[in-house]
Amino acid sequence: MSGKVAALRRLQRRSQALLLEVYRDQEKVLVFGEGNTSAAVMLVGEAPGEQETLQQRPFVGKAGKNLDEFLEVIGMRREALYITNVVKFRPTRAHERTGRLSNRPPTREEIELCYHMLAGEVAIVAPRVVVTLGNTPLRTVLDDSKASIGACHGQPRPASMGKVSFTLFPLYHPASIIYNRSLRDTYLSDVLRLSAWLAEQGLTD
Ligand code: URA
Repeated sequence: MSGKVAALRRLQRRSQALLLEVYRDQEKVLVFGEGNTSAAVMLVGEAPGEQETLQQRPFVGKAGKNLDEFLEVIGMRREALYITNVVKFRPTRAHERTGRLSNRPPTREEIELCYHMLAGEVAIVAPRVVVTLGNTPLRTVLDDSKASIGACHGQPRPASMGKVSFTLFPLYHPASIIYNRSLRDTYLSDVLRLSAWLAEQGLTD
């Protein structure tokens, strides 16, 4: 087992233990990052949803379909990337009457609780590019709660987490484009821009 794989497994076990300690009475399922542990490109989403929780893998189900389209445009295989989320469990709210769970945005406390998990993944994988999807990962990676995807999308910029420096490439979250056609065009042109930029840097498969 490579040193990186072992280090990520240790981080995953520590993260699992933390969730058990903090959410003792609630069943929080850890959905840790996965993929190429030496990937040049790390993709960071917001938090897992229902399918991700059932399969304990990030970006599967509906979000996985969005991801497949994204990968097709940038001409990369899923296995070439490291894929993760800021929050490593599904933030839910329960319907008052039925008790049925639905997704909700993560709280500041949840993001803070999971911060060191993402920072640890970045420290171990040491990607050259971090692609964030939506506001939550953008603000977390920049450590700037006022950063806005509307102002930064599609523009690469230098960034760092801990000792690792990389290029941050912010994209809208693919889920946000479902009900907004004009945003969809923007998202697609940003992904094309990312694709061209990755090719220029010699970072495609
Ligand atoms: N699934 C994930 O794993 N992350 C997201 O941000 C959305 C869906």
